[in-house]
Amino acid sequence: MTDWMNWNGKWKRRYKLMQENGIVNKYHWYDGGFYDRFIAPNQRELFAQIIKLIERESNIIDVGCGTGFFSFSIADKSKTVLGIDLSKRNITKANQNLRKQPTDKLSFRNAYLHDIISEDKKYFDYAVMTYVIHEVNEEDRIPLLNEIAQVADKIIIGDYLIPCPGDFSGRIVKTVEFIAGREHYRNFRTYEANGGIQYLADKAGLSIQRDIKNHTNQIVVLSKNNV
Ligand SMILES: C[S@@+](CC[C@H](N)C(=O)[O-])C[C@H]1O[C@@H](n2cnc3c(N)ncnc32)[C@H](O)[C@@H]1O
Repeated sequence: MTDWMNWNGKWKRRYKLMQENGIVNKYHWYDGGFYDRFIAPNQRELFAQIIKLIERESNIIDVGCGTGFFSFSIADKSKTVLGIDLSKRNITKANQNLRKQPTDKLSFRNAYLHDIISEDKKYFDYAVMTYVIHEVNEEDRIPLLNEIAQVADKIIIGDYLIPCPGDFSGRIVKTVEFIAGREHYRNFRTYEANGGIQYLADKAGLSIQRDIKNHTNQIVVLSKNNV
């Protein structure tokens, strides 16, 4: 067995134990410094498009913020940004980044959205969620969207365009998702099979106000049907 397999197995067991003890965590081998340096920066263009959709001086919740790349990118334009994520290592890295670039506008928490709803009773102008919903377990996607609709009027989701293009870039998307891990890939496959964001928005009773399709990704602005 390689050192990497030993290390990976050790972390998985440790995270399982944390979950059993009610500690918030979600394990990915690439979380933390690796995600911050090699993965998040590739989302720059999508983030720039989302930033243009958001009004100045807004209060924003970044659900599944990772290491905070989007939150930092919108900090200047926003009033406040709360980034939440289930991955301890990503939130630790986001807070390290915050210590290096301090601003009162940003805060990061390792928490479930339902904890934020029950503790803070806060309402946001926008909830943003980028590259998260495809990795959420199939049965948890609609409940998560319902929770998001409780905390914000406008919901902006950026994620893979489904169906993936049949060309080289589509194959890259699938390869990246495969490398991300077994559970991650299984969730990506069900997201793909169900028809992506469009299907989820319909099921969650959210209407699509804007729909921006890029080559491999899609941004939708959603609002509650009764708003
Ligand atoms: C692929 S990363 C995307 C990070 C960041 N939004 C970006 O675009 O770079 C997905 C993140 O969502 C987090 N996540 C997954 N399900 C979540 C949930 N229900 N609530 C909060 N975070 C979640 C994961 O821990 C992971 O850090």
